[in-house]
Amino acid sequence: LEYDFDHNSENHRRGIETTWASMRELEVLPYSRAHNGFYVVTRYEDVAYAARNPEIFSSAQGIAIPDLHVDFRLLPLETDPPVHREYRRLLNPFVTHDHVSRFEPIIREVASDLIGRLEQRIGGNPDIDFVALFAMPFPGRVALKFLGFPEDAAPVLDELLNTIVDLRGTDAARAAAGSLHTYIEGFLESHRTRPLNCDVILSAIAHAKIDGARLSPAQQNSLTTLLLFGGFTTTTFALSCAMHWLASHPQDRQRLSGHPELLPLAVEEFVRFASPGTYLGRTVTRDTELRSTQLKKGTRVLLSYGSANRDESVFARADEIMLDRAPNRHLGFGYANHSCLGVHLARLELRLALQLLLSHLGDFEVDRSREIRWSSGETQGMTTLPLTVRMKN
Ligand code: HEM
Repeated sequence: LEYDFDHNSENHRRGIETTWASMRELEVLPYSRAHNGFYVVTRYEDVAYAARNPEIFSSAQGIAIPDLHVDFRLLPLETDPPVHREYRRLLNPFVTHDHVSRFEPIIREVASDLIGRLEQRIGGNPDIDFVALFAMPFPGRVALKFLGFPEDAAPVLDELLNTIVDLRGTDAARAAAGSLHTYIEGFLESHRTRPLNCDVILSAIAHAKIDGARLSPAQQNSLTTLLLFGGFTTTTFALSCAMHWLASHPQDRQRLSGHPELLPLAVEEFVRFASPGTYLGRTVTRDTELRSTQLKKGTRVLLSYGSANRDESVFARADEIMLDRAPNRHLGFGYANHSCLGVHLARLELRLALQLLLSHLGDFEVDRSREIRWSSGETQGMTTLPLTVRMKN
């Protein structure tokens, strides 16, 4: 059944819940002709099935539809088992709950510094863009510290990333991607020439071996790039979604301010609702069937974690946020072998940021006179969130 569906079109995300709901009703998989054609997987159980069977639904041919046409694959995202397991094994010690907890003071410091600037700004003018002033810079700064980059890398990386994202497909974006690669390579090279420091991810990557063989500089670069950027816009969009909801639902805001112990459940619910990792592509490796639809080898499918997370057969009142929803088996951090490597860091960042924002800011509401803009593509969320914020007395 054909649908006019393109997740890359401008403002795709606005009102998409209605389309998702009608797609989930179908007895077959909906098909889109966009980008040489692909099926969209929207029901929770189908998305989970595909994610659980990477030998049929492969990530190795790229997770972007259309393909990004860059000359490298993102590691470990765009690999399949068994090699995928090796990359995960390499990175796992750095992403455990315990390792990540060590960064709590640093994350607090980054959040407090940004809130300090926000308060200064609000003193002069209560109308702010929450994304530009907090949700965007916060995860970027944390990621640099987490990976072991120096502080002055921030403006350089910001500039390169903005060019790559805003000007995608142009020569300028390709040049920026090349500069990013060279910039990261410089840090990796300096770690290669120094002894291994097991506490620093960059050092571990620079010295890493799989089956006794050192990773190539390109592999090391790709692992670093994904660790650096995997948590950028995803965390930004989860945060802006949370603040949008709290700005529009004062009772929930008061409840969460008064009961910070609810934050861990609320964070899961915000991630379910926002589903920033909205669409991830897979390629079918052999003829197979899903939702009464024959899929030929080589067919591309788009897993919609966003739609799966609104599936009413799993989540009651799926289109609403229930701060203390439990159980909450959402797929916002993915599922099975590719499930988010940065999940503990993301949870900690979101919990601390929301806790500090709620305790420092006074009332805030969405400023309806200014527009909210959305990104399109694989990762989706608000790229602007106009808020009017009052200072706490
Ligand atoms: C709220 C924030 C975040 C969300 C919603 C999110 C979401 C996701 C999702 C849905 C996937 C699965 C991709 C797939 O199935 O193909 C994923 C994978 C991944 N994420 Fe996150 N992520 C977040 C934060 C982070 C952070 C902070 C980091 C970095 C430390 C990170 C690093 C990664 C990596 C490296 C993978 C690939 C894992 C693999 O292929 O085995 N993410 N993430």
